[in-house]
Amino acid sequence: MTTMRTGALALALLLAPAFAAASGGGALFDGSRGPLPRFELPAPPLTPEAAPETFGRTVATPDLIAAKARVGIDAELARLGSAPAGTSFTFGVIGDAEPGRFPWERIFEPGKDVFAKEMAALQARDPRFILQLGDFVSEGTVPNYRAHVAWMDADSTVPLLRCIGNHDRSRPNGDADKVLYDAVFGPRDYFFDYGGWRFIALDSSDRVVTPAQIAWLSGALNVPGPKVIYTHVPPAYLRHAKPLPIVASLPASAIEAERSPVQDFFENWFKEGSSDFERLVETSDVKAVFMGHIHAFWAADLHGVRYVISGGGGSPLYPLPPGYDMRRFAHYMTVAATPSGLTETVHPYRGTDFVLPPVRP
Ligand SMILES: [Fe+2]
Repeated sequence: MTTMRTGALALALLLAPAFAAASGGGALFDGSRGPLPRFELPAPPLTPEAAPETFGRTVATPDLIAAKARVGIDAELARLGSAPAGTSFTFGVIGDAEPGRFPWERIFEPGKDVFAKEMAALQARDPRFILQLGDFVSEGTVPNYRAHVAWMDADSTVPLLRCIGNHDRSRPNGDADKVLYDAVFGPRDYFFDYGGWRFIALDSSDRVVTPAQIAWLSGALNVPGPKVIYTHVPPAYLRHAKPLPIVASLPASAIEAERSPVQDFFENWFKEGSSDFERLVETSDVKAVFMGHIHAFWAADLHGVRYVISGGGGSPLYPLPPGYDMRRFAHYMTVAATPSGLTETVHPYRGTDFVLPPVRP
């Protein structure tokens, strides 16, 4: 909005002589000759009912629509196959990969191509599948999606199950459509069962979990057995959870000091739906919730549930506001699932691997 106002002001200054000439006067434009012409386009309809073919601003291209058969969630689940209950297996977790929309964002650690390098290292560990926690592109544009699909076609060897992040929408903040995500990857809320575990992806990319989603989640959780939830934006109730002590020997260069009094002007947590989400998680044998969105590492146990923010998949490591007990370093995780629970190992891009302690009851 500020940008729009600044733009309008610049435009007014630019057009002032023309206005003056057109009105026959020689005085400088003083803003009193009626409203300026508006250069804002009318907001497009944002309901699929109103414009099913061009929902919102984005139109999926035929090549991206065709890619769904190769890289969409259903294709990845077909690649994964099944495993009977009681099977022990390892899966991977990797968070935010978007490289920053603007050049100034790319001055921060960890630098270019880290997502591809981390994915190569993670896939070499041969996990059964990988959970990607959203924000795999900076903005949901056709070129960005094409580049990501090209990377998948060339280098993705392990089934990649993802949840949508705010950047994967048509724009990262405010109202946005999810046309490209739905065309290439969708569904956004889904689950799959593997080895006796249920893995549930939940769309929190609008920084909201709606009542309809809570009802769907309640049904998805209503089966016996352990579950894992993965969603992009953390729920607000975690904001004051006590983090686990991180027992890592990481080189100083891998962790930037918290040096900036940057205010928390981005909404890093979803508030609407947070308490319902908390109630469901705590009553449904959920063992872990994996989240991204914040380009850092953080973990906490709350009422016997392990929560991990793993937002270091290659995105810029911005300075965090004071009071954030998080560590900012690029990383991915491997998680061993056995009938007795989960064991998470964190693999920093630079530094030494470390294992999270068992969940506190
Ligand atoms: Fe995000």
